[in-house]
Amino acid sequence: MSDVRFDGRVAAVTGGGGGMGRAFALDLAARGARVAVCGRRPEPIAETVALIEAGGGEALAVPCDVRDPAQVDAFFAACSERFGAADLLVNNAAGNFICPAIDLSPNGWNAVISIVLNGSFLCSRAFAQHYREAGHERGSIVSVIATYAWTGNAGTAHSAAAKAGVQNLMMTLAVEWAPLGIRCNSIAPGPILTPGATENLFPTEEIQAAMSARIPAGRLGTLDDVVAATRFLLSDDSSYVTGSTLTLDGGGWLPRGMFAS
Ligand code: HXC
Repeated sequence: MSDVRFDGRVAAVTGGGGGMGRAFALDLAARGARVAVCGRRPEPIAETVALIEAGGGEALAVPCDVRDPAQVDAFFAACSERFGAADLLVNNAAGNFICPAIDLSPNGWNAVISIVLNGSFLCSRAFAQHYREAGHERGSIVSVIATYAWTGNAGTAHSAAAKAGVQNLMMTLAVEWAPLGIRCNSIAPGPILTPGATENLFPTEEIQAAMSARIPAGRLGTLDDVVAATRFLLSDDSSYVTGSTLTLDGGGWLPRGMFAS
């Protein structure tokens, strides 16, 4: 078990009302960070805050659609007012559904690009502005992408293109914001057993078994897998790591090799 602590740090987590986002928020709070979470619906993020407070931590919930610049600015302003400017950010908010590109409506494309790519930009930008204003000297951003950012993914052209954009954005920001002390990295999970992804993307045990069989590690990912990797990239344990992507997929995206039987 890692003994990493985030005492004195302030973390912002987008999409903090469930699944991975809630898991990141709980882990950060349990390790001493004060945590601001946002999400579109008030109830799930309020529940995340209640869980953190029940564990003795401090947290703030701000309803926010990351597609809307004004709402994003209001989220980071509320965080600064309550806890001081954030110095840790997890760009976790995402939207996805399976639909062949040929049948995807422009509005469906825009919805996912806006949440994933535009939302990650808007949140990173607002985070950095508040961070700079506060005079912080070390910070870390972790964006959640997916291995299909570089493989493509039949059935989710919208999400794959958006995640590729986010990965590229983190590399650019890693260079631009290094003088500010902000590191910018991505994690690229394969399929993770969160309630939302399970319902939307791999709802039956048969589908999950077929997916597991294609993964060299023989299983789908867990919340513990993504939390541990994100904690590492947020912490000073990774202080020389920036512009990188940490792949968490049990080897799932790798080719099997030309001599595989
Ligand atoms: C085709 C669809 C669709 C579907 C929505 N649309 N679902 N088209 N098949 N299943 C279209 C709608 O018809 C509409 O276009 C447009 O998308 C916008 O839909 P709305 O419902 O109005 O949008 P909104 O309420 O903003 O919802 C956003 C969403 C939604 C992305 C569409 O799915 C969402 O919010 N999902 C919750 C978050 C989520 O999915 N999280 C899981 C992320 S997992 P028209 O033309 O009809 O107006 C992930 C990584 C997985 O991202 C990695 C696995 C390895």
